Amino acid sequence: MCGIVGYTGDQQAAPILLDGLARLEYRGYDSAGLAVRNGDALAEVVKATGKLYHLADKTDQGHSLPGTCGIGHTRWATHGDPSVVNAHPHVSGNCTGSGSGKVESDVVGVHNGIIENFTELKEKLLRHGYAFYSDTDTEVVVKLVDYYYKKYKIGPVDAITRTMVRVRGSYALALMFRDYPGEIFAARKDSPLIIGTSESASYLASDVPAILKYTRQVYYIDNLQVARVAPGSVKFYDLNGDEVSLPLTEITWDAAAAEKGGFEHFMLKEIHEQPQAVRDTLNSLIHDGQIDLSATGLTEETLQALRQIDIVACGSAWHVGMASQYVIEDLAQIPVRVELASEFRYRSIPLYENTLVIVISQSGETADSLAALRVAKERGAMTLAVVNVVGSTIAREADHVLYTLAGPEIAVATTKAYSAQLAAMDALATQMALVKGTVSREQYGHLLEELAAIPDKIKRILEDKERLQWFSSKIANAHDIFFIGRGLDYAISLEGSLKMKEISYIHSEAYAAGELKHGTISLIEKNTLVIGVLTQSQLFEKTISNMAECKSRGAYLMGVTTNGNFTVEDSVNFTVYIPKTDEHFVSSLAIVPLQLLGYYTSVNRGLDVDKPRNLAKSVTVE
Ligand code: M6R
Repeated sequence: MCGIVGYTGDQQAAPILLDGLARLEYRGYDSAGLAVRNGDALAEVVKATGKLYHLADKTDQGHSLPGTCGIGHTRWATHGDPSVVNAHPHVSGNCTGSGSGKVESDVVGVHNGIIENFTELKEKLLRHGYAFYSDTDTEVVVKLVDYYYKKYKIGPVDAITRTMVRVRGSYALALMFRDYPGEIFAARKDSPLIIGTSESASYLASDVPAILKYTRQVYYIDNLQVARVAPGSVKFYDLNGDEVSLPLTEITWDAAAAEKGGFEHFMLKEIHEQPQAVRDTLNSLIHDGQIDLSATGLTEETLQALRQIDIVACGSAWHVGMASQYVIEDLAQIPVRVELASEFRYRSIPLYENTLVIVISQSGETADSLAALRVAKERGAMTLAVVNVVGSTIAREADHVLYTLAGPEIAVATTKAYSAQLAAMDALATQMALVKGTVSREQYGHLLEELAAIPDKIKRILEDKERLQWFSSKIANAHDIFFIGRGLDYAISLEGSLKMKEISYIHSEAYAAGELKHGTISLIEKNTLVIGVLTQSQLFEKTISNMAECKSRGAYLMGVTTNGNFTVEDSVNFTVYIPKTDEHFVSSLAIVPLQLLGYYTSVNRGLDVDKPRNLAKSVTVE
């Protein structure tokens, strides 16, 4: 939610800031703004509502905003509507009209996160003579910094640390002070922020792709730390204002990975990157015909002693948890509970000894997942993070980390990160099964072969994508779509339904097929599309029967099933076949046609596939 960038160096800042914001636009896209200053001159602010190109047009692609130091923001509204006045940057002084123009104020800043006690702080500042022009919590925090800065006549670092002690909530802040030209001050708590350096410049951003083109040398600023960023040099401070040193890390991601590479949308590119994402993730875990979890720090003894697993996540990552539940329970015979992180964090779930809490997250920054991780740790559970973004907060705070190697994912609708998570969890389940003795060595070898074959099978499904493109053109005007399945097929249905609704805006629901009769079937009318996932041989007949019940009430049926199940065609109107695999690992294959269906439906409806309305890639607020 929201993306921030900063640059100070010897180049013109605005084009670099706009370029960085373009790569962060997936984090929010209802308005954007820049503040740039030229040497000692006053900073100039420009803001625009809507997508980033409005801001780029307004500033002549940044060229009408001269200066070598600046900050920028792309917004996903939390406090206040998406208007120009609520757009960032915000200033410590007064502001008239649109908020664009020269900044007479002492402090100007951008923020990603939520200040929970902003009302109380606002009242305090009102009592001290401050006036407010926007509805945002950010304006409050910028003014609070200004208040301490002036009241105690202290430097920016101390004014910021005093503010940090006073505010509750989450923030990645980038601030410029009128008295400190050429410098940016940053602070972080629970919202992502990285700082990159090169010889003559420094960069700051909410996510790696924003600065990858300029530098690969980055610092991961810790929670409750402040950074003083000057061209080519960065200093860090703790909450006491004492200088601390942080390691410089080299980013190994390929810059091209964050570009569209000839595809019309990031989502389509990322769908096609799934074979690689799955292969890379599996290769990082399978060595010499064995799953090797040593990089995660999970030992055989730990796995052996496990009595319970709780999987906690949000959205698609939660769907991975749902699928993994079936796989782990069936293969390793360990009881698994799957909880939505937003629920888990407020429940008093007893966590006994030898419980492993697994938090799954692409970004590693999802606020609810992070809170759930902390709750689990407080209650004494051992934690494992399955995370894609290296150095993210969840990865840093968990006891153990298993990194998925999907590379940067830009489209809001996750595809390759989801598939990489499935692969990682399937490998984990297989290893647990071996250690627990619930599969023989021979079965284990077979499972590894099946896992290794998944990337090529995904490729085969992608080769047939035109059929899905054609079918999606027939259903693009649907009002409701139901996805049904049993067991693992239900978990796949959940993800298929989310992929459809989040980017096509067609209402869709996923149901455990056996539940239809308990209420939902009353919604089936003539031509309602029902998509059945039919990959589990033991449950196949049962789900087919449920589909037939829908058909007799007028439904139009699509089935996703495994090659060879040709009898499906007797019952359904349109069938998609996926290659055969061990049934435990089928989610990685069955989801691909459903991702394509969602994608093409969104394209056919003329929607913004990569940036669906009201959504952001990283949900860093509750
Ligand atoms: O970064 P995370 O994996 O923690 O994100 C979790 C969800 O916000 C995410 O999966 C979301 O549901 C996606 N938009 C689904 O495509």
